[in-house]
Amino acid sequence: MAARIAADVLVRGIGRLYTLEEDGIPAGPRRRGDIGRVGLVEGGAVAGYRGDIVAVGREDDVRDSIRLLPGAETVDAEGAAVVPGFVDPHTHAVFDRARSEEFGRRLVGESYASIAASGGGIRSTVRSFRCVDEDELVRRTRHRLRAALGYGSTTVEVKSGYGLDFESEMRALRVVARLRGDRRLPDLVATCLAAHEFPDEWREDRDGYIRLVTEEILPAVVAEGLAERADVFCEPGVYTVEQSRRVLQAAVDLGLRTTIHADELEGSGGAELAAEVGADSADHLGAISDAGIEALAGSDTIGVLLPGTIFALGLESQAPARRMIDAGVALAMATDFNPGSNWCESVPLTLAIGCTRLHLHPHEALTMCTVNAAHALKRADRVGSLAVGKQMDLNVLRDDSVDATAHHLGLDPIRLVLRAGHVVVDHGAPLGH
Ligand code: NIG
Ligand code: FE
Repeated sequence: MAARIAADVLVRGIGRLYTLEEDGIPAGPRRRGDIGRVGLVEGGAVAGYRGDIVAVGREDDVRDSIRLLPGAETVDAEGAAVVPGFVDPHTHAVFDRARSEEFGRRLVGESYASIAASGGGIRSTVRSFRCVDEDELVRRTRHRLRAALGYGSTTVEVKSGYGLDFESEMRALRVVARLRGDRRLPDLVATCLAAHEFPDEWREDRDGYIRLVTEEILPAVVAEGLAERADVFCEPGVYTVEQSRRVLQAAVDLGLRTTIHADELEGSGGAELAAEVGADSADHLGAISDAGIEALAGSDTIGVLLPGTIFALGLESQAPARRMIDAGVALAMATDFNPGSNWCESVPLTLAIGCTRLHLHPHEALTMCTVNAAHALKRADRVGSLAVGKQMDLNVLRDDSVDATAHHLGLDPIRLVLRAGHVVVDHGAPLGH
């Protein structure tokens, strides 16, 4: 008999285990029909050792292949479903406070763009953000990321973008650096979004601000190792396609990876630009053109949809998710957690909104929130699916299927979160049905 593998943690008693791995799926992000293939195992178990998965599959097979070490932790899922830890590839979690007064103004007639044009929106957060010190930002951001972990996000991307001057952008990214490595928080991926807006003092000299970003802020971010990616808000009235190209090209030249807020409210060619510069992802895409869909389908750039933002802005028009899937775009989903357009740290709620508003099957939405989201952050070698050798990040749901999680609105659907093989969130008993 083959030697059994040592394990220091075992999750057993799983009803439906969604591994997100199946034979025959091509390597890389899932496209077309493969977006709905979730690697379902009935009656499963997952075992780990020192944070990584050593066995996954049917419970009998897993038990036969492992040797549980003395003192190993055993978790009984009691028939509930298990999914990989969620990967949230787009958040703006470092901010001072949410702009809830604007939320009400938007609902009774003002638009996001008109509030922004009159000095509200991102620029009003920038004015208040600049007055808050680093320790206080660490405290507030830790609290929010802890909440995100409680909703099952074990990997979260965090952007700067409310400082918009040298010191304040560096401060935002230092906040992320100080929170990285805390096991009670998600794994963090930092992105510099100094090109989120043009701050008040540079509005009459936009080229000057772009020079500050490309010649001072991004080089300093690279020198201090504070971010691995750069982002830009490419939208009429904010950064034009040409201005966005300058920011992204400078980032690429400095060795950063890139992502872009593209075609959010109006189509302007942001998706095409993302494909052109080889960005990790093009995010939002509510108003993507046919040419943009074609450009993404022929590229390695992931389309990240943010259906919670459309919902929270009270808008009707949606990203054409089905057309993008059929065209061969690799799609992921994210919260866009931020103080304005979408104050929501919950991936499960985003997944549910995505299903109903984008007409996605829950299995497709699950792929978008796990393995394809991991690809969007270039972390798919470690997270996003349950396979031997990957980090043991998983969620025990309260319900017995992902379909139920998407269907069962308003409930906190997470019972347990394991991050790197440790139970880091325990919300108590499973639900009776
Ligand atoms: O992704 N679109 C630009 N940035 C954010 C909104 C940030 C804010 O409203 O504070 C977004 O929706
Ligand atoms: Fe955003």
